[in-house]
Amino acid sequence: WWGHVEPAAKDPILGVTEAFLADPSPNKVNVGVGAYRDDNGKPVVLECVREAEKRIAGNLNMEYLPMGGSIKMIEESLKLAYGDDSELIKDKRIAAVQALSGTGACRLFADFQKRFLPDSQIYIPIPTWANHHNIWRDAHVPQRTFHYYHPETKGLDFAAMMDDIKNAPNGSFFLLHACAHNPTGVDPSEDQWREISHQFKVKNHFPFFDMAYQGFASGDPERDAKAIRIFLEDGHMIGCAQSFAKNMGLYGQRAGCLSILCENEIQAVAVKSQLQQIARPMYSNPPIHGALVVSIILSDSVLKSLWLKEVKGMANRIIGMRNALRENIENLGSNLSWEHITNQIGMFCYSGLTPEQVDRLTNDFHIYMTRNGRISMAGVTTGNVGYLANAIHEVSKA
Ligand code: LMR
Repeated sequence: WWGHVEPAAKDPILGVTEAFLADPSPNKVNVGVGAYRDDNGKPVVLECVREAEKRIAGNLNMEYLPMGGSIKMIEESLKLAYGDDSELIKDKRIAAVQALSGTGACRLFADFQKRFLPDSQIYIPIPTWANHHNIWRDAHVPQRTFHYYHPETKGLDFAAMMDDIKNAPNGSFFLLHACAHNPTGVDPSEDQWREISHQFKVKNHFPFFDMAYQGFASGDPERDAKAIRIFLEDGHMIGCAQSFAKNMGLYGQRAGCLSILCENEIQAVAVKSQLQQIARPMYSNPPIHGALVVSIILSDSVLKSLWLKEVKGMANRIIGMRNALRENIENLGSNLSWEHITNQIGMFCYSGLTPEQVDRLTNDFHIYMTRNGRISMAGVTTGNVGYLANAIHEVSKA
């Protein structure tokens, strides 16, 4: 039956973890997948999560959630993205379902887009998170690209991006990273977001925000929602994928939310019912544990403050590592510029290393990262930063 099946290509991100795990070297370093580690390189369970779990223990039954997931978790997620006092929430204009983290939220949206606007396309930034391409491909939505990153400045190519926005047919779908762009660590400034939003209005484009890193850009989830808030102020209908994988460290719990802002409550009810219809034959209903953790933390002022403190702590450790990595490479006498390590934000540094240089890092130094040169700064520690800096210097010097 299956003789014709060829092995699939390795995933460009999760395949790196597989290779790392298979390497017996004691010196190995994993800066591939975007998963936060403490300064000893160990995975972290946040204290607020542990506390929420204590409250769940013994009280949890194992019943199904509704098809659209936990109402409480959705309410709390929406407040985080749209604002505590959002009129849009009060007016029930947002169709939202709990999703299998950010990937699941994007995939539900892509399927919804295909089902109800079958001739539409999606504009995706270059570069973007590799899985975005897979998600819209498998939903059979044709993809177009728009300029985003400038390889020479290692910053935003704002002019080219704006040109692409202007030149796209009116009413196009655009995938935007709400903050802490993956993989580049390059975000538009607030003023640039305002210009982008204005141009979207002129062109009647639909912004779909993937917000996988709320809290990791500035250390403050409220500030990191700024781009979305600007678009809301301007009266856009938006879509939003939220993930609690990174900002609550709930990676394997698959806790997320998909929301679509509608013209009115009647529309929102219809849209939500259709999202549930898409979810039902795929996975029936989403998992319960992560949703409970999220709703307990966000609805309790003490736990929420603790969470905000812990998010800030993670963001600050990463900023510290950016400074240390740059300083270490510069101290080795590199004559290249490494300013972008500290200019870029969020979990990733888009180093500018070529695929061949990355291969050398892996083969000669047992350092694992994606071949596009992305370094997960969350995997850099006081213990490995010197080793990493030296290896980067070795493979990048002329
Ligand atoms: C990443 O970009 O490393 C993360 O979003 C993990 C993933 O699923 O790819």
